[in-house]
Amino acid sequence: MIEAATRIQGLFCRYPEVRMNNTITLWRAEHAKFAKLIDLLEAQLALFHAGEPPNYELMLSIAFYMTHYVDAVHHAREEIAFRRIRQREPRSAPTIDALTAQHAEMKVDGEALAREFEDVVDGTILARSEVEALGRRYIDGFRAHMKCEDDEVIPLAGTVLTDQDWHTINAAIAHVEDPMFGVGAERRYAALREHIARESRGPTLE
Ligand SMILES: [Fe+2]
Ligand SMILES: [Fe+2]
Repeated sequence: MIEAATRIQGLFCRYPEVRMNNTITLWRAEHAKFAKLIDLLEAQLALFHAGEPPNYELMLSIAFYMTHYVDAVHHAREEIAFRRIRQREPRSAPTIDALTAQHAEMKVDGEALAREFEDVVDGTILARSEVEALGRRYIDGFRAHMKCEDDEVIPLAGTVLTDQDWHTINAAIAHVEDPMFGVGAERRYAALREHIARESRGPTLE
């Protein structure tokens, strides 16, 4: 689905002054959370591939979060920043446009994946290869997309956007609490949160 976006080669090197700010810190922190979920989804798909029963409820929770928070909130926020970056640095246009198109593609794939997991939880038998292929495409696409943002777009944002730009971007973004990791997290993600907490504690010695 997602080819590596056209690179902003050399652009970053021209701007040695990188202004870090709170929005960039939060942007990167969100990516770190998503990377954890993608790793978890991959581990569950590996079980599925090996013919072992994965935890479909967990996979469904991840897909639900991806479509209800990542697509609807995180990507919407990014697109506000993308537009301003594109204005400030027109040479970023091919990359920004590719990333914006990928948001739409990931939404379609994420929703299809959520539907497939839902069907399996409801007892429908699906072709394993179909679920695996879609899951693999989603995982690879998501990682490549975040890597491009982390390595190229976020550093570029830190160099080309002015304080006034950040103010405009922040003002345009309604604050939406992360429903899984934020304050007042939703009950629907309780099992997934517990799973992540257990994993981060590591194996316990009996
Ligand atoms: Fe994105
Ligand atoms: Fe992102």
